[in-house]
Order: sequence, then structure tokens, then C-alpha cells
Amino acid sequence: MASVPNSDELIFFVNGRKVIEKNADPEVNLLYYLRKYSCGGGGCGACTVMVSRYNPKTKKIHHSPVTACLVPVCSLYGAAVTTVEGVGSIGTRIHPVQERLAKCHGTQCGFCSPGMVMSIYTLLRNHPQPTLEQITKALGGNLCRCTGYRPIVESGKHFCAESTVCGLKGSGKCCMDQEERSFVNRQEQMCTKLYNEDEFQPLDPSQEPIFPPELIRMAEDPNKRRLTFQGERTTWIAPVTLSDLLELKANFPEAPLIMGNTAVGPSIKFRDEFHPIFISPLGLPELYFVDYTDDGVTIGAGCSLAQLNDALHLTVLEQPREKTKTYRALLKHLRTLAGAQIRNMATLGGHVVSRPNFSDLNPILAAGNATINLISKEGDRQIPLNGHFLERSPEACLKSEEIVLSVYIPHSTQWHFVSGLRLAQRQENAFAIVNAGMSVKFEDGTDTIKDLKMFYGSVGPTVVSASQTCKQLIGRLWDDHMLSDACRWVLEEIHIPPAAEGGMVEYRRTLIISLLFKFYLKVRRGLNKMDPQKFSDIPERFMSALEDFPIKTPQGIQMFQCVDPYQSPQDPVGHPVMHQSAIKHATGEAVFSDDMPPIAQELFLAVTTSTRTHAKIISIDASEALALPGVVDVITAEDVPGDNNHRGEVFYAQNEVICVGQIVCTVAADTYAHAREAAKKVKITYEDVEPRIITIEQALKHNSFFSIEKKVEQGNVEEAFKYVDQIIEGEAHVEGQEHFYMETQTILVIPKQEDREMVLYLGTQFPSHVQEFVAVALNIPRSRIACHVKRTGGGFGGKVTKPAVLAAISAVAANKTGCPIRFILERGDDMLITAGRHPLLGKYKIGFMNNGVIKAADVEYYINGGCTPDESESVTEFIVLKSDNAYYIPNFRCRGRPCKTNLPSNTAFRGYGFPQAAVVVEAYITAVASHCNLSPEEVKEINMYKTINETTYKQTFNPEPLRRCWKECLEKSSFSARKLAAEEFNKKNYWKKRGLAVVPMKFTVGFPVAYYNQAAALVHIYLDGSVLVAHGGCEMGQGLHTKMMQVASRELNIPRSYIHLSETSTVTVPNASFTAASMGTDINGKAVQNACQILMARLQPIIRKNPKGRWEEWVTFEESISLSTTGYFKGYQTYMDWEKEKGDPYPYYVYGASCSEVEVDCLTGAHKLLRTDIFMDAAFSINPAVDIGQIEGAFVQGMGFYTIEELKYSPEGVLHSRSPDDYKIPTVTEIPEEFYVTLVHSRNPTAIYSSKGLGEAGMFLGSSVLFAIFDAVTAARKERGLTTTFTLNSPATPEFIRMTCVDQFTDMIPRDDPSTFTPWSIHVS
Ligand SMILES: Cc1cc2nc3c(=O)[nH]c(=O)nc-3n(C[C@H](O)[C@H](O)[C@H](O)COP(=O)(O)OP(=O)(O)OC[C@H]3O[C@@H](n4cnc5c(N)ncnc54)[C@H](O)[C@@H]3O)c2cc1C
Ligand code: FES
Ligand code: FES
Repeated sequence: MASVPNSDELIFFVNGRKVIEKNADPEVNLLYYLRKYSCGGGGCGACTVMVSRYNPKTKKIHHSPVTACLVPVCSLYGAAVTTVEGVGSIGTRIHPVQERLAKCHGTQCGFCSPGMVMSIYTLLRNHPQPTLEQITKALGGNLCRCTGYRPIVESGKHFCAESTVCGLKGSGKCCMDQEERSFVNRQEQMCTKLYNEDEFQPLDPSQEPIFPPELIRMAEDPNKRRLTFQGERTTWIAPVTLSDLLELKANFPEAPLIMGNTAVGPSIKFRDEFHPIFISPLGLPELYFVDYTDDGVTIGAGCSLAQLNDALHLTVLEQPREKTKTYRALLKHLRTLAGAQIRNMATLGGHVVSRPNFSDLNPILAAGNATINLISKEGDRQIPLNGHFLERSPEACLKSEEIVLSVYIPHSTQWHFVSGLRLAQRQENAFAIVNAGMSVKFEDGTDTIKDLKMFYGSVGPTVVSASQTCKQLIGRLWDDHMLSDACRWVLEEIHIPPAAEGGMVEYRRTLIISLLFKFYLKVRRGLNKMDPQKFSDIPERFMSALEDFPIKTPQGIQMFQCVDPYQSPQDPVGHPVMHQSAIKHATGEAVFSDDMPPIAQELFLAVTTSTRTHAKIISIDASEALALPGVVDVITAEDVPGDNNHRGEVFYAQNEVICVGQIVCTVAADTYAHAREAAKKVKITYEDVEPRIITIEQALKHNSFFSIEKKVEQGNVEEAFKYVDQIIEGEAHVEGQEHFYMETQTILVIPKQEDREMVLYLGTQFPSHVQEFVAVALNIPRSRIACHVKRTGGGFGGKVTKPAVLAAISAVAANKTGCPIRFILERGDDMLITAGRHPLLGKYKIGFMNNGVIKAADVEYYINGGCTPDESESVTEFIVLKSDNAYYIPNFRCRGRPCKTNLPSNTAFRGYGFPQAAVVVEAYITAVASHCNLSPEEVKEINMYKTINETTYKQTFNPEPLRRCWKECLEKSSFSARKLAAEEFNKKNYWKKRGLAVVPMKFTVGFPVAYYNQAAALVHIYLDGSVLVAHGGCEMGQGLHTKMMQVASRELNIPRSYIHLSETSTVTVPNASFTAASMGTDINGKAVQNACQILMARLQPIIRKNPKGRWEEWVTFEESISLSTTGYFKGYQTYMDWEKEKGDPYPYYVYGASCSEVEVDCLTGAHKLLRTDIFMDAAFSINPAVDIGQIEGAFVQGMGFYTIEELKYSPEGVLHSRSPDDYKIPTVTEIPEEFYVTLVHSRNPTAIYSSKGLGEAGMFLGSSVLFAIFDAVTAARKERGLTTTFTLNSPATPEFIRMTCVDQFTDMIPRDDPSTFTPWSIHVS
């Protein structure tokens, strides 16, 4: 190999500051400098920054959003990077983008907020007055797990010229108009204004920082020369001329060309690829051009996909339609390919050469007869971008010294049709499950096939050409016979083996022909348009099959009770107060655990996890790992000074492993990279042990449970079954869910020199649990362990118990090494190790009358608990207790049991079992409706609790708010009229169906164990009048601290600005309960209130003496009054007696109802959520902005759970889905196009200020989408003459929808005998 010279200086700017890096390391990414790590693979957008470059040719500056985790620092030579801190800060000036995101309540935990700001900011730098579509498009690559996106989009909408944030579109009236507000009396007056846009600073583009002139000079320097950056293991070479590039490519033929780095970067990070040399021709003018000619467009290989989009868009505008079919097909896929960041980074050359099997563009380019222009030192040549190239036939590939100079895409012609088709788990920013590029050329004036091309992606290791099928069809007419043969032949030619990687085999087979059918229809329609006399059109009812769902900008209205006008203006209770950290979230100044600066001698921890499901550990050999540079120690169970197993939770695996992903040992090293490398080198030998239990079915077979059965029963179930008209029996399977909090589990442990003290900074919902586990692991008193939680980047239940185990593991490492330990789980490790929501199997037997009245129900629930107890028993109890949902069934028996399996241990997750269990209830109600020929809504209405009642466990409650939510939801959503409209739509459309569903909800807060509901607070008043509030609850985005400040403000009668809430800590409030079960505000609010009231009582004598005095005057040292106190709330006195099956387990109920309407594409399984209306009983909302944020966020999380979020386990229990690439949470495109949320007023004397805890309740309301899908699928099945009762499982993925809409295509695909192969993935519920 040729040698390379020494390193150059890397020069770039960050936020206007010049950076000169003398030892730039090609292996280091920009993220390393910036932090905000979430996925590391370009999939979440949390690390978005703006990169600006000057183009000396056009003399223009280009601003692009990029994901810092995929930007090698070396690629930044001559670039200006702007991060969120550079956009604005609290100390200087807050930028309007930051201000609006914060004030529109677009931040909750705030972890995604810097990325959101940067995406909108970059858009505004390029388009100061964007369109609504541009806003939605700009946010497509940014994930948010908290907000449900609506307020984020809304904050961006305020920059649009056409801005109409008001949801009453087309009515000619604004929702702010007085007459639009409906209210009965002063108390019921409803508001819709969650913020005041008059406060917004205007956007002034002239105020933006200028591009550094030095970079312009550098870019225009005529004497630019090749640059080389020499790292520890790798070299980066950046040529500045084409000949230099070709020379380098000849010298280093194996070196990749780093362009967008969106293919090479992930391969290095996730597939351990190593390249000693990188060649980076970024900015080389010869690679960046667009050449428009009479017969086509040639696009430089260096053009980004965003630039490709612009170039094609221009061509489409200028050329006649018939010439632009290929371009339009490409544009359609470019809209949904990844997010804006990746589209701005990825290049056409990189895309074509990397030839991913899921490529959205290559199949279309091939179908459109594109050619690739290659160049090398030897000269240039063209090769066709065809099947041989895409299938990687050696003779059709690039030679190792060649590079792609450009791609030529010819115009389409009159009798030539080109289309791109695709289906993904979610509409945008998701790899296709199957995609295709197809084209057909006819003999002029006829429908006789002259040439046909079909390329499929995601059906094999490469994009595949159906060339044989195409060849056989030449000369055939474009008719149904041809289609039928084409389908049969293409299925023979493209065979997806039954055990193929990625699974969904039968679905993918179906998609192959369903997409072909779509193409067939499109072409027939096209032919008819060209000559209607000669070519018949497709049936009217098939028209809607032609188009994919459009991506629209979501809109809606939020309604809540106005504050009493007589309330003191200073009193913030009831007002939509902005999250106390919102501005800091938006400016990036909110400090998360990982943002904490490095500490002297700090070490990083990486994990080695079990690769076996259930096995004896024979040996652990760490010698190779220990010999690697930077490695300080390898820590195993042997190193735990105290207990290695606490409450059944094992810290380091000892003697045996009980699941794949169990932590066996950790490696402590000077950098994370070193720790991670070493962790891979630890050699563990195992001996498999039986049984290996993965699924609930297997657990039942092996009688493998964590606890005895939990049961509640009323009436006489057996007897009642004898007298009913009908009995149905069935099952529903509900799969699990990944928390996907944006901040992965992060822990910083600092061992102190004295007294074996340990200080921990981490994101958790339960600091005292962390303290307990660390104390047990180290065998030291809890008083020496201090846990601090400033904020958590999302929890959703996933940070209740798991941080304690991870903290114990880290503390053992800190104890052994004597050094501070920083432990940040990578996204993949986090998903693998920490598990999530329990998969559930529900079995039911229901007895009912023909009029829909349910007389008897016998229901059994089993959850997949995984390998350790965690909270599975308690989740089971919740399931059993809440299993009536909103319905009164006089003879009712419900039993539940947690299964012990060899999966990572499942844990708490928003809703705590209810979102899974209540689906089963809705499923049997829907089945009853079907058997009675009634609508599900009728059967729900008939069986719903109507008056003051008792639950099965004899707790009395009044369902009046439930009735109100249900009624209002049906009325205000115009359910009946829309249902009729949907039926009309369904009659007219064969391949697309609409469905509507309304679900009612009776939910609970709190715990059936009284002492879990207690809380404490500590309030100090300082002599300047400022107040420090501490309480036991953790802030994870839900606005708890904001509400606590509102409480303290009211109780102390001082402005909120006087109150500070710093952190949650075991030092200030000991033994606090977890922040979970929707009761954070309830219990901590009462504790804060108590503390404030104690202080006010102490101040009363002073106030009485000086009633007109100011607060600052009253809080005086001279009076010798303690200005500090603890506050305490004993907790709701709840209990449950399982023996007697009787109790008062919950303090109160939260009611709600939600109505959703969807449209499904029966051919692909895609669905679109058209509208959702939510009515939630909020009693009196302490903060409507926070509460609506919780409802919307939970709804979207629920909707994801019930539709697109799908965990994939191998039959051996290996979790396949470990990144945003293969686990899809909703993006901005999935949320309802119209989203209406109303807080319904009721009374709740039990809780503080008559409020209700709303943190979890919205989750289950997401199931209205599931049942709306079910309704649409039922309509499809009815029309096809199929039975309308079918098993309803969750999630209703595109695969489920497509395969349930049985038709000629699903009938046609080959099926495999399940006993002949091992599938790639299985369901574990
Ligand atoms: C989060 C994410 C989401 C994505 N989603 C999608 C999606 O939905 N649909 C889809 O189709 N794709 C998707 N992709 C893939 C993406 O389109 C490709 O990674 C990208 O197009 C590759 O381009 P690049 O410039 O980044 O290539 P690089 O990573 O820079 O290079 C890739 C390879 O191409 C070679 N190469 C680059 N340029 C040339 C050249 N001019 N001549 C010769 N060789 C060259 C390099 O040597 C290297 O081997 C996604 C990627 C990411 C990271
Ligand atoms: S996109 Fe960079 S961390 Fe997720
Ligand atoms: S606010 Fe978006 S992830 Fe938490």
C-alpha cells in the first residue's frame, strides 16, 4: 500500500468560533464534540446541527441540516457548524425558533428539542417564510417520544406566510372568536389558547450570524491542495482535483469514498467495518453539477439527495408530463426517503454505489434506463444502471479504481410508463418492507408490451430484477391475463425463503404482486388518458388504489376550562404555564446527565452481554480485553462486595445466564471506544441449559410463573353461561413495546475518598430505589449514597426499576477501580438489556344475549414477564383490577398470572398493563357486536357503567364523567354522520377502506398499596424572599416541577419567579416513592402544599403585624422563625385484599373517550390516521398545557404501540429490533391529520385542587386507531365475502392489515409448511 504524509490542520467553525484541530482523527464524529447522543445512526435527529458551506462556483452559501452522529469531523474542513447553542441562548438572545418551540409547549423532556430547533432553524435560513409542507417535511427526520409532535409543528407553523394555526379550517371563523366558544356558565367557559402568539419576537433574517469570511477565502483559494488527516488507526485524504482523486483511488483501491457517510458510517459503527484509509472528495466541483439536455438530466455523483430532489423538481416543472415519469417517480420516493438530514447528507453517487437492498431510488433509476458515468485514471466509460449492476454481477460492477462521476437519467417517452412503489412500517423515514421500480414501453399507439422492467427492493440481499418474467411478457397485451401470468411468474422468479432475514415472508410475497397490480392499474389508467377510445379505463372503484396516502400538515384544536376570572392574576394554578425548563431545552442549556463535564480520572463503562438464552457460564476469559489500550479493568460478579442479587434482580450474571442480553461483565476504560472494543473481546464459554422459554405459550406448557394467580370475581359466572343466547370464546395477543425514551439510560457514579461515599447523577424515576440497590451491592449504608436527578430525557416507566440495577453495576465498577464511572447505554444495548412493556395473551369466554347485553365473562390474562420478577406481579394485579374497563358485566371473573421466561425482564410502561388488557376487553365487545349484528358502539353503550356502581372488587364509583366523555365524543366528533360517510366511501372504493371507532376508558391513578402513595417535600425560604422547593418526584418531561412551582406559588402567594426547583435528590428528600402511576402531581403536590402551609402558618404572626408588607419583609431572620420545613403527604389510603377479592385499591378514576378515523390501503396494508377526537376527564386541570401535552403524547405513544411499533424476537429469544432503523415509533407523519383534544371538567375532591393525574390515561385511547383499523379491515372482508369475525391482535401493522384483507393476491402466494423451517422472528405474547 502506498504511504501517506503527515497530518494537516483541520479548520472549521463552530458557532462562529474558529476551530483548528491539529490532530484530527478520521474516526471521530462531530457528535463526540457536541454530545446529545441518542441513536448514533442518523435515525432519530436528536443530534441535528446545521452545516453551512460556501460554493465558490455559485458564490452562494448552502445551509444543510445534518445528523452530527454521522458527520466525521474531518469532513468539516472549510465548513461552518451551527449548533443549538449558536442559534441563541438565555445569556444572550433567544432565537424566535427556540422561543416559539418553548412557548407553544413543544418541549417536554427536552431531549429532542435541540434537534427540533436545528431542523426548523436550518429550514428558515434557506426559506425565511416556509410553506406548511416544508415545515412538516423538515421535521420528518426528528423523533420525539414525549409530545406527540402537534405542538412542535405548531411552533413551526407560526413562521409560515400562510400560517393558520387555527384548526377551524375553511369555516371562515377563527376559533379564538368569542362566538365560537361554547360555554354554559362561567365555570364551564372553555378556552383554546395555550399560549399568546403576540409575545413572539418577530423573525429577522438579517440578525442571523454571518458566514465566516475566512471560510469564503479558503473556498476561493486558487491554490487549494490535498489535505491529509492522520488518526490513531486511520488516514483521511481529501483531494481537491479530479485527477488527484483518481490518482488516490488508483493508489488506494479499497478505500471508500466518504460522501454523505450515511452508508459507510453505520457500517463502521454497527457492523464493525474497518477502513485504514478514507478518501473524501466532498466539494470537488466535478462531482457537483446538473446538466439538463434535450433527452435527459445528468446529475453529478456528489449531489445530495436533496439537491437531486431540487433538480428533478425543476425538470418536472419545465418539461412536458410525458417526459418526466421517471423523475416524478423518483420525487415521490425522495419525499419519504429517510428524513431531511439524511437527504441532505446522502449523495446520489453514494446511494448508487452502495446499492442497499432496500434502495428506494435504484429500482426506479434502473426501470428508467439510467446510466452511470464512470471515470478512472484509465479513462471514462458508461455502464447501465440495470439488474446486473444492482444484483452485483461482477462483470457489471465498478472496477476498484473507478469512481462514479455522474448518473444520467433519460426522459421518459410517450408510450413509456415508469413508477416507483413502496411500503414501509411508517410512511416517512423508514426502510421499505418491499419497494419496486417498474416501467413498461408499448409499441406506439398500442398496449402491446415492447419492453418491461421490474425491480424489487427488500426481497433479498440485493435489489432484484424480475427479468425472466419481463422477458416472457414481451409482446403481450396489457390486460388481466397478462397480469395474472405476471403475478404467477414473478412469484416463481423472486423467491423469498421462509426463514428469510427480516421475516414477514408471506406479507412480502404478497406485496410483490400487490405492487405489481398497482402498477398495472396505473398504466391502464395512463393508457386510457392517452386514448380513451381505444383503452378502457379502470373501474371507478379501483381509482383510489392508484395513489399513496398524501402527507398533510396536522392541525387541530385543544379545549380546556378557562381560569376563573376572579382568580388572583398572580396565581398560576389553572393556567397553561410553559414547562419550567422549556427555554433551556430549546437553547440546549438544559443539562442532562451526559452533558455533565468530564471528571478527573473518569472511566467509561461498556457491557458484555449474554448471547445465550439459558446457559451455564463455563468460563470468562478477559485476558485479551485487558491487554487492549486504555482498558483499566474488567468487572464481573466476583467483584460485587455486597449482594449480587437483590429482590430477584441479578446485577452481574453469576454461574448462569437466563436471557440473551443479560450483563455478564463490564469493561472500564479511558474512552468509551476503548471500553466497547474490549467488551467485544471478552470470551465467555457457555453450556446451554433446558428449558429455554421464550413465549407465553411455552411458559404455560412448562408451568413457569412468577407468582400465584390473581383473581377477582362477581356474580355466578358458570350459572350465567347456562342462560345466555350466545357464547363466544377467543384469544387476543398483544405484543410488547420498547420505551424508546430519547435519552438512553445514563449514569455517572463518583466514588468519594472518604467513608466509601458514592454520588450518583442519573436519569431515573426512582432515586431511592437506586440508592437501595447500590447500598446492597456495595454493602454500605444508604446514608452514604447520594442520588441526584436533575432531569430525565423521557422515562415512561422504563426508568423506574432498571436504573437501580444499572447503577449497582456501575457502582461496583467505581468501587473496584476507585474512579468515577460514566455509563451510557448505547441505543442498541438499551433496547436489548432493559426490555419494555409486557406482551400479553388474553383468553376470553363471553356469554351474551342477542340484543348485545353481556351477562357473563370469564377472562384470563398472561403476561410475558421475562427472566426476573421486576414488577410483573404488580402489573398483573393492575391488569386484573382494571380489566372491566368501562363495562358492567354482572357475572365476571378475571384471572391473571405473570409468566417467567428467558427474555430480558419486562418492566413498567405507561399504563402499566392496562393498555394491553383493555384491548382484550374491546376485542370481545367488538366480537359480541359482530355476533349480534350490532355496531361495536351500540354494544359498548349497552354494557357501559351508567350510574353509581361498584367494581368487581367492591369499590364504589360514579361513572358520570365517563358518560359525559363518551356522549360528547360521539356528538362532537359527528361520529354517526362520519360513520355513514365512511360507509359511502367504502362502497365506492374497493382497495381503500375507511373505519371509525370510539373507545371509552375508565382508568386509575396510584397504587393499591397505601404506603407507595406517600410523598415528602422540603421547602426553604431564603432571606431575599427566594424559595427553594425540593420534593421526591422526578422530572422526566411530564411537567411535574412546573406544576409544583404553581402549587408553591399559590400556597405562598408569591409569583412563580420567586420559586426555584433545582433537582430531586435522596439528600433533600429521603425514601421517596417512585414517580409513576400518574400520581406525581397528586402526592408531591400535597407534600409541597403541606410544607408551604406550615411555613405560611409560621409567618402568620408577622403578616398580621404588617398586613400591607411585602413578602421580602415578612421573611426575616430577626423574628427567629424557621424558614425551612419538610412537608408530608401520608398518601391515599388504598388497599386490596386479594384473599377476599375486595378493596379500595385506587383513590379515584380518570375517564375518557376517543374517536379515530383511519383509511387503510388493502393492497399494501398502509393506513392513514385522518382524525382523532379525545375527551378526557381532567377534573380541574392545574396546567392545561401540561395535561394536554401528556394526553397527546400518550395517545401518540399508544397509537404507535397499537399499530407500528413491533419488537422482533428470534425463536431463541434474541431481540432483532435494536435501533430506530428497525423499531418504528411514530413520526410527525403518523399523527392525526386533524387532532382535537378537550379537557372535560369534573370534580375530584380527593386530589390537590380537584385535579386528576393524566400522565398515562391517554395511552389506551390510542387503541381507537387500532379499532378503527379493525373496522376498516372488517369492511374490506365483508365486501370480499369473508367472515367478519377474525382474531384481533396488536399491533395492527401493515403486515396484519394486508394479510387480513384477504384477496386474490394473498391467495396466490406460496405458503410454507411451518414444520419445515425456523422463522426469523416469532411473537412472544
Ligand atoms: C437513517 C438513514 C435512513 C435511510 N433511509 C433510507 C431510505 O428510506 N431509503 C433508501 O433508499 N435509503 C435510505 N438510506 C440509505 C441512504 O440512501 C444511503 O446510505 C446513501 O444514499 C448513501 O450515500 P452517501 O453519500 O452517504 O454514501 P457514503 O456512505 O458516503 O458512501 C457509500 C459507498 O459509496 C461509495 N461511493 C460514494 N460515492 C462514490 C462515487 N462517486 N464513486 C464511487 N463510489 C462512491 C463509497 O466508497 C462507499 O463505499 C438511509 C440511511 C440512513 C443513515
Ligand atoms: S440521529 Fe444522531 S443520535 Fe440519533
Ligand atoms: S420532548 Fe421530545 S423526546 Fe422528550
